[in-house]
Amino acid sequence: MAKPTVTFVCTECGGGSLRWAGQCPLCHAWNTLQEFQQRKAPSGRRQALTATGARPVPLTELEPEASPRRALAWGELNRVLGGGIVPGSLVLVGGEPGVGKSTLLMHAAQQVARNGGRVLYATGEESAQQVQMRARRLDALEPGILLLAENDLDAICEAIRSEGPQLAIVDSIQTVTDAGFEGSAGSVTQVRESAARLMRLAKEIAVPIFLVGHVTKDGSIAGPRVLEHIVDTVLYLEGDRRQELRILRAMKNRFGSAEEIGVFAMGEAGLEEVPDPSAALLGNAVTASPGTAVVAALEGTRPILVEIQSLVNIAGQNSIVRRIANGVDINRLHMLIAVLEKRAKIKLGQSDVFVNVAGGIRVSEPAADLGLALSIASNLNSRPLPDGLVVIGELGLAGEVRRVGQLERRLAEAARHGLTRALIPAGSKAGRPSGLEGIEVRTLAEAISAAFPSPITSGRFITEAGVSVS
Ligand code: TYD
Ligand code: MG
Repeated sequence: MAKPTVTFVCTECGGGSLRWAGQCPLCHAWNTLQEFQQRKAPSGRRQALTATGARPVPLTELEPEASPRRALAWGELNRVLGGGIVPGSLVLVGGEPGVGKSTLLMHAAQQVARNGGRVLYATGEESAQQVQMRARRLDALEPGILLLAENDLDAICEAIRSEGPQLAIVDSIQTVTDAGFEGSAGSVTQVRESAARLMRLAKEIAVPIFLVGHVTKDGSIAGPRVLEHIVDTVLYLEGDRRQELRILRAMKNRFGSAEEIGVFAMGEAGLEEVPDPSAALLGNAVTASPGTAVVAALEGTRPILVEIQSLVNIAGQNSIVRRIANGVDINRLHMLIAVLEKRAKIKLGQSDVFVNVAGGIRVSEPAADLGLALSIASNLNSRPLPDGLVVIGELGLAGEVRRVGQLERRLAEAARHGLTRALIPAGSKAGRPSGLEGIEVRTLAEAISAAFPSPITSGRFITEAGVSVS
């Protein structure tokens, strides 16, 4: 049977389906399946392949990378890119509208241009004047940045080819159309085929191309997820538009670690890099406030001190209790509440629990478990955690505090920021930085009694809650 040439692709998750349905069979979003026309292999393709003369070469005889990465002025950008911009790479910068993607890429353009490079900035979203206005605000008016207000992919590719810049930016991929395909700008077919064509171009002439991709909740525009498998690198810019911190997170990187983050702050003159995020995040921490705990989360290779806040409130009679988590996984919160109830006899069944991570940052690491649990206990009992305390440890279902990776780095970061005490999992072999007292705990109950020296409920609970840990 011939391979079907038309499939349906979900604009949310990028999953494919042979048949149309009202609901995506993979991510269960509604009305997101769009018809997608697959490109037919052009005839004469075999000859074209052999004509490029590609031959197998022994691994040992390969030439080292001819053109090295181009490092940018911002270390935070280089870190996420894996050391700089790789020639011929296709990088997708995704994020919600208004989060700062165009701003970030204009800063990157400025840094390439100031270094003597040339940048082609193709915009299909804004007029050239609007882009110029932004550039002026960012102090990025550089003659090396060439602006092209264009939606037609042929024209964009032609300009990239003839200018041969050191960096090309397409803002955004959802406004570009390839005349050779049906569908309006932003449809799955257009977005995918345009990206695939830019990928081939990038590889052919070794020009790095950055694509902007808007994440939208509206199924009529294909989001960045439909492109993730096409491009070399996927970066997401996250952050609350009302707050200043922005996190650039690598989700996929063929040229580096996919766990790194870069931290930036949005201000009057655009973005600024934040090389010391812990300081920025702890800057306005209200010490000695019940419900606040400082945890040391690892983002890629870098430990970051983050403040977690909890608010526990008795829910009204007959109302359903609410559990709201900002910046932590809601399922993790449910699990920790269950562990607190069962292993530390802390009653939360009738209470609303709200959790917030300061600065709009997201903590997905289990190493923050113990800190989150203690912040809930602290707020419930209106007892602040001790000053200068950092809490590190994963919680198991038995209430045991599990060891975490890279403890030494986390402790060093805490000491660097003037914290004096650390609750850590027992048996950790990490060296202790000077000035930081390490308090080893084996269970949640031990951690609670260490954090709140006099018993907070009834004193009995520690013996009741004791679990054996091998
Ligand atoms: P933008 O880069 O246009 O977002 P995106 O391309 O992701 O849609 O950024 C838009 C937001 O950033 C806008 O709400 C205003 C804010 N902003 C500043 O606060 N300061 C600045 O200097 C600039 C250029 C933008
Ligand atoms: Mg934009």
